[in-house]
Amino acid sequence: MGLNYLSDRKGIILAGGKGKRLAPLTNAISKQLMPIYDKPMIYYSITNLMLCGIKDILIVSDPFNIGSFKNLLGDGTQWGVNFNYEIQEKPEGIAQVILIGEEFIGNCHLAVALGDNIFHGNDFVKLLHSADTRSNGCTIFAYPVRDPQEYGVVKFDRSGNVIDIEEKPEIPPSQYAVTGIYFYDNTVIDRVKELEFSLRGELEITDLNRKYLNDNLLNIEIMGRGNAWLDTGTIDSLQEASLYIRTLEHRQGLKVGCPEEVAWRQGWINDQQLESLASSLSISGYGEYLLKLLKVQHLT
Ligand code: DAU
Repeated sequence: MGLNYLSDRKGIILAGGKGKRLAPLTNAISKQLMPIYDKPMIYYSITNLMLCGIKDILIVSDPFNIGSFKNLLGDGTQWGVNFNYEIQEKPEGIAQVILIGEEFIGNCHLAVALGDNIFHGNDFVKLLHSADTRSNGCTIFAYPVRDPQEYGVVKFDRSGNVIDIEEKPEIPPSQYAVTGIYFYDNTVIDRVKELEFSLRGELEITDLNRKYLNDNLLNIEIMGRGNAWLDTGTIDSLQEASLYIRTLEHRQGLKVGCPEEVAWRQGWINDQQLESLASSLSISGYGEYLLKLLKVQHLT
């Protein structure tokens, strides 16, 4: 892709949590394994990290579901990446996974992706790349939404500078919600160790981001309205996200969030490897799509 990646950035994907708002769907299966149209939800966050050039990815899930992720994703060699797995015993906060992943992170920079966030848009990948090339501080992404009180919300001063982030405020200070992908420098490990559990019993990602803000090390990228950031928290939003992906894929004949394709376009797997991945999926349209990639020239 001609871009310089910070080769020492690792990624963590959160694939735990309660998923209670999707019950009974999530009674026996993890939310991040639910389909978003033609692929499991977690494929979308994996693909985003891969698009940043991140090859070392830690998947964190609960004791019950971790085996299903291992079955689905294996060690990652099929896509030219490296998957590691850790268990989060209880859903005690998004920031807690950074402690769980301390050894995995080592001296590297970090990207954290929530496994239930779906992004799409041309700008989005460019925004990810600019965040990735920053080696100091933290970068988060804010997006205008109708219901900001459901999220972490950014507070700006009159000049548009960020002065605070509030988690699920009753009266939102702006329309701008903090999305579920975060880029950190290596000081994140020390900062997360200073966090205290919130009233809801979690190590809050918002408290972590505030620490960077207090040290003047927080960058916020605004994701414009031309991008899509889709929620998957309720049955309706899950269906809407599926329909959005279906509409795009039908119109363009190109898949969104397809790790096999990204691996191939990044040059991490070759034509033969893509062909063999396709043949193992030959009965579904997914395999046909992978085969078609080898025959049709796409400029995107
Ligand atoms: O989606 C963006 C929002 O995500 C942000 O705007 C908020 O600031 C942030 O706190 C978070 O809010 P949610 O209330 O939506 O987070 P939720 O508890 O739903 O967890 C998000 C994902 O992370 C979900 O896939 C479950 C997973 N998770 C969550 C927790 C708390 C874990 O794997 N472990 C956990 O301990």
